[in-house]
Amino acid sequence: MLELEDIQSGVLRPRPTPYAATYIALRIDERDAGRELIRRTTRVITSAANPTSPLADTSVSVALTHEGFKALGVPQESLDSLSWEFRQGMRARARDLGDTGESAPDNWEAPLGTGDVHVVIVVVSPDEERLEAALEPARKAYRQMSGIEAIWRQNCHALPTETEPFGFRDGISHPAIEGSGIPGSNPKEEPLKAGEFVLGYPDEMGGVQKTVPDVLGRNGTYVVFRKLHQRVAEFRRFLKSHSESPEAEELMAAKMMGRWRSGAPLALCPFHDDPTLGADPKRNNDFVFQADDPAGFKTPCGSHIRRTNPRDARIAGMARIHRMIRRGTAYGPLLPEGVLEDDGNDRGLMFAFVGAHIGRQFEFVQSEWINDGIFFGGGDDKDPITGSNSDGGWFTVPRKPVRKRFQGIPHFVVTRGGEYCFMPGLRALRWLADLQT
Ligand code: HEM
Repeated sequence: MLELEDIQSGVLRPRPTPYAATYIALRIDERDAGRELIRRTTRVITSAANPTSPLADTSVSVALTHEGFKALGVPQESLDSLSWEFRQGMRARARDLGDTGESAPDNWEAPLGTGDVHVVIVVVSPDEERLEAALEPARKAYRQMSGIEAIWRQNCHALPTETEPFGFRDGISHPAIEGSGIPGSNPKEEPLKAGEFVLGYPDEMGGVQKTVPDVLGRNGTYVVFRKLHQRVAEFRRFLKSHSESPEAEELMAAKMMGRWRSGAPLALCPFHDDPTLGADPKRNNDFVFQADDPAGFKTPCGSHIRRTNPRDARIAGMARIHRMIRRGTAYGPLLPEGVLEDDGNDRGLMFAFVGAHIGRQFEFVQSEWINDGIFFGGGDDKDPITGSNSDGGWFTVPRKPVRKRFQGIPHFVVTRGGEYCFMPGLRALRWLADLQT
């Protein structure tokens, strides 16, 4: 069984819908102040115990970067026991992640990727009121403390459409995790071993990740934050210019995502949207691909959801070892419906990955599945929505009698920055606060 009372609730529990959320980045200038901050935050962090209680809809979580661990004086031997990718940090991994050109770290929003972000506090709640109520004690934890500086904040909120900025229902598909008590969203998916998402437990490969000392890693996990700017007007213009009617436009959008904007999956309703199905959490993720649609006539193999989770589809490799928990929250104002010109506002997604293996989960999906198509026989076709299509990408829609190839897919999602973090268990936070080095 998972030690839920020691795991931060943000790790396992899906965010509520609707939601209000905030990300606060802090820099530790003095080691003792950093330890005191961690001590204070342990008092406001919610654990994953009682994961299905409505109260658990509001959560405060804390995560640290490698630089943050160093600023707290974590011994070298302990740092060395954490994952290699985490120790490198996202900036150093940019090329492999496809963060080049406009998405390159030199163009990131400061202080992301500068080494100054040490601690990230995330508060998620069903509405602004409860967000503020949860934020206040968290604020108190660092207010009037010298030696700690809040250096960045990103507010996020559900859009009035309750979709991500391109207009699709988000937050649908989640893996089930053995021993978590939280059901997955696809009844056809076997629950994954806890070690895929939390350190200290066996994973799908039979391994158990250990750290030095054991308490540092146990019940903790890696979290990848990415601020992803979305070019909504450009996405709309692309759909319009490649479709002959509003219906064709919606179908084109659905083919790129693998779901209609309502959330209804093409796998279950390939020809027409079904908003009731899209809104039904018992049905909207209840499907696999291989038996019914091996070639992607319904859900193109290159669509966003099929390439980021090929489920049972025949691919090179094994899909189960690349699963991830996602915690995306939207930022910026809605671009009003029908507007085709950019209004200059920054809008997009604060993407958050949670998992025990940054390398074979997040990085693999980003580099091999989103930014390459070889694994499903799609050559170098990238994800038509989130791929680094800076030089004009390709997207193939299998059709009879002949497939349709779209050329010159623009770069719809630009990376504004991000950090690799570790979200320790509650005992580990107390261990960090009590360090004597
Ligand atoms: C701005 C960028 C992105 C947008 C707008 C976006 C949007 C979406 C939407 C609408 C869904 C379907 C609803 C759902 O299952 O929750 C989805 C699913 C998913 N996305 Fe993204 N996404 C983005 C970036 C990413 C990135 C960077 C990754 C991974 C590195 C990723 C991985 C996934 C996965 C694993 C799923 C679930 C697939 C499934 O199980 O069916 N997404 N995304």
